[in-house]
Amino acid sequence: MEISGFSKFSQEQKIEYIAKRLMANSRGNFLSEKEIMTYIQSFFHPNQHIKSTFNNFSENTISSFHLPYGICPNFLLNGHLYTVPMVTEESSVVAAAAKSAKFWFKRGGFHSEVVSTTKIGQVHFLYEGGFDKISALVESNKKVFFEDILTLEKSMRSRGGGVKDFEVKIGVVNNHYELRVFFETVNAMGANFINSILEQLAVSLAHAIPSVSIIMAILSNYTPDCLVRSFVECKVEDLWHEDLKESNMSAKDFANKFKLAVDIAREDSYRAVTHNKGIFNGIDALVVASGNDYRATSAAGHAYAARDGKYRSLSFVEITEIDNSLNFKFSLEMPLSLGTTGGLTALHPLAELSLMILNNPNTKDLMKIVAALGLAQNFQAVHALITTGIQRGHMKMHLSNMLMVLKVTENEKKCIEEYVEQKSLNFAEIKSYVEGLRYV
Ligand code: MEV
Repeated sequence: MEISGFSKFSQEQKIEYIAKRLMANSRGNFLSEKEIMTYIQSFFHPNQHIKSTFNNFSENTISSFHLPYGICPNFLLNGHLYTVPMVTEESSVVAAAAKSAKFWFKRGGFHSEVVSTTKIGQVHFLYEGGFDKISALVESNKKVFFEDILTLEKSMRSRGGGVKDFEVKIGVVNNHYELRVFFETVNAMGANFINSILEQLAVSLAHAIPSVSIIMAILSNYTPDCLVRSFVECKVEDLWHEDLKESNMSAKDFANKFKLAVDIAREDSYRAVTHNKGIFNGIDALVVASGNDYRATSAAGHAYAARDGKYRSLSFVEITEIDNSLNFKFSLEMPLSLGTTGGLTALHPLAELSLMILNNPNTKDLMKIVAALGLAQNFQAVHALITTGIQRGHMKMHLSNMLMVLKVTENEKKCIEEYVEQKSLNFAEIKSYVEGLRYV
């Protein structure tokens, strides 16, 4: 039966509703006391203000879904040392970032630069009079349109942002055109600002040119002109480190194999998606920790990876000769639309702390750190892939999760850790080993 007014229920009433639904559906019983407590305790926060803040982020909230908040120390970027917060559930992501940060710390650290910060919005409309006519009409109304958005823009203008310009573009279906609007949103991600302006421009457009029929007005999450570059570089010989001994590789072997692996990801989309997923392991972890919109950054990053019609790696390697020695340069270029004011950054107490431990960066600085973290993550993933493989490191971290699920004792844990040393076992194998221990 349909329910109305669910959003107005208290947390307890919402949970009670779920318990009853479960009974009506499949399980044939209420949520147990313990299960109800799991919902309630996950949501518990001694500070009522914080609890109600979390509650109000979204609708129909009954609990909080916790994710680990970790730290990547030793992160040297553009000569500044950062301690980077990372929110991720995936074992070994933070460990890999920390290892990469340490590796590059000794080799000059990461270098990032913001290339551009323009964001885009679109008003889609139909018009039957042709491109030249609509372009001329929009041009002649430009002043009025700018006047119409003056109030909405006021605060953003005072911070150095606002609408930079707009132009008509030919659309993709018959009589379809787009008013493409270019924005600078300074330290805000600016989604609300952009959408408010676009909705006003849609009204102004329809008012000034009555034969225009508006379809929709919305920001584009594709932001190829809100771009950041990050790179690490050193002499090829300086890539030498102890880990290479086991794989019997010289620094030059490592550099060449690393380049080969990244080149494969430039050309092979199947590999590129996994390669870029590794980059987003780092990107998302900081985007989430700083209260930014990871769906927007992912969508833009993946679209950028396919900008020439083929999905490719976002990172690339160059090995060049400089002053008679070989130089290794590993770079990443991608769009990142972020904010350090407004939205969740100001509301989520941990997002606020994340920005604080990053020395309260402005948006450009955050873009630089996020991109560098993506590059760090990518470096370590490819490093593992071309040397030991990822399973050894992964399983070590994953093991503690599996042991938690199997509720092992301290003694059992010791035996298992010795047993799995240098092996990569799956959950079934570990479970069977634990059962063996318990049987004896
Ligand atoms: C796992 O989360 C990420 C990797 O698959 C990335 C890659 O293959 O480059 C290790």
